[in-house]
Amino acid sequence: MPAQAFPEGFAWGTATAAHQVDGGTWNNDWWAWEHDPSSPCVEPSGDAIDHWHRWPDDLRLLADLGFGSYRFSLEWSRIEPEEGEFSTAALDHYRAMCERCRALGMSPVATFHHFTSPRWVASAGGWADPVTAERFARFCSRAAGHLADVLGAACTINEPNVVAFYGYRGGVFPPGERSSERRHQANHVFIEGHRRAVDAIRSAAPGVPIGLTLSMTDYQAVDGGEARVEKMREPMEDVFLHATEGDDFLGVQVYTRMLVGPDGPVAYPRGARTTLMGYEFWPQALEACLRRAWDVTGGLPLLVTENGIGTANDAERIEYVEAALGGVHACLADGLDVRGYTYWSAFDNFEWAFGYRPTFGLVAVDRVTQVRTPKPSAHWLGQIAARNRL
Ligand code: BGC
Repeated sequence: MPAQAFPEGFAWGTATAAHQVDGGTWNNDWWAWEHDPSSPCVEPSGDAIDHWHRWPDDLRLLADLGFGSYRFSLEWSRIEPEEGEFSTAALDHYRAMCERCRALGMSPVATFHHFTSPRWVASAGGWADPVTAERFARFCSRAAGHLADVLGAACTINEPNVVAFYGYRGGVFPPGERSSERRHQANHVFIEGHRRAVDAIRSAAPGVPIGLTLSMTDYQAVDGGEARVEKMREPMEDVFLHATEGDDFLGVQVYTRMLVGPDGPVAYPRGARTTLMGYEFWPQALEACLRRAWDVTGGLPLLVTENGIGTANDAERIEYVEAALGGVHACLADGLDVRGYTYWSAFDNFEWAFGYRPTFGLVAVDRVTQVRTPKPSAHWLGQIAARNRL
């Protein structure tokens, strides 16, 4: 492979998730959470960036910039607003998106669960209740059947480790619980949900590659923190990595590193650069996590399904992505099967409990006029995508 070239067929994409961009997703647990005065959310999602209506122009913009894939999520609460009641109109919406992606030369990558669950699922027990795994698989089967011939790839569950941790242990995501036991229960139900979803999507949409997307962190032991790293990483990453056997790929999502001493996470070094999320600017994390995912899974094909930076300084975004891509390239040179790179996010959007302040987008959005303005990084990365080389 020549110095800065990527392998033929390497997929260059951008990503979004329904609740963060669509607007008006009021029938899910996150909307309820944003409006709960006891939650830490700083503002509600509201109209978001009205992607639900503006998707045709948004897709054209991304294709014109040079990208070859688009990862978005199916909003379960729109497709199955009450238990067993499926909306053909909502399914048709996603079908039209997939078809348009293809017509524009972008592979549609659909995530079946990206953080949000219908209100009826949450009130009937949520992700700590084993029945949710069955309900999720039924939804997957229905949705995959409707999209079978147009899907490019399927991601079952986005970052189940994050939802289990922040929702059941950290109190930051719905349902806002703070119990280690419930977190472990949720891990278990998510793993079961993933396994069932793989089977459901495989039989409803044969031939569509399927994987889990996992949030990974470059855990670095300091001052003898090795045992602690192992202890933290087991329930956060390893249980999920071990649940990917038989999948077609693993979606790797990485943003930063964490320094861990014998008693747990320690402060970043004095003067460390941080992002709008408060964590460290550490693009090297992607390479480290790809290598670890490859080792732990025994060589499952990898797809970077998210990597990016929340910053108000677009030059810093380019610096971050360039360094991260250097790491991907080094992995490829060592023979790791990395199939693509997806930048998070296509557009500035609703960053969950943080609201709209952290801007991850390649494209800026004026949320009063809904006017989209590509940043220099959008053109820069789009050109890399189009040329397939750094
Ligand atoms: C999530 C996205 C989120 C991004 C940036 C990932 O954890 O999948 O929904 O916006 O990171 O924080």
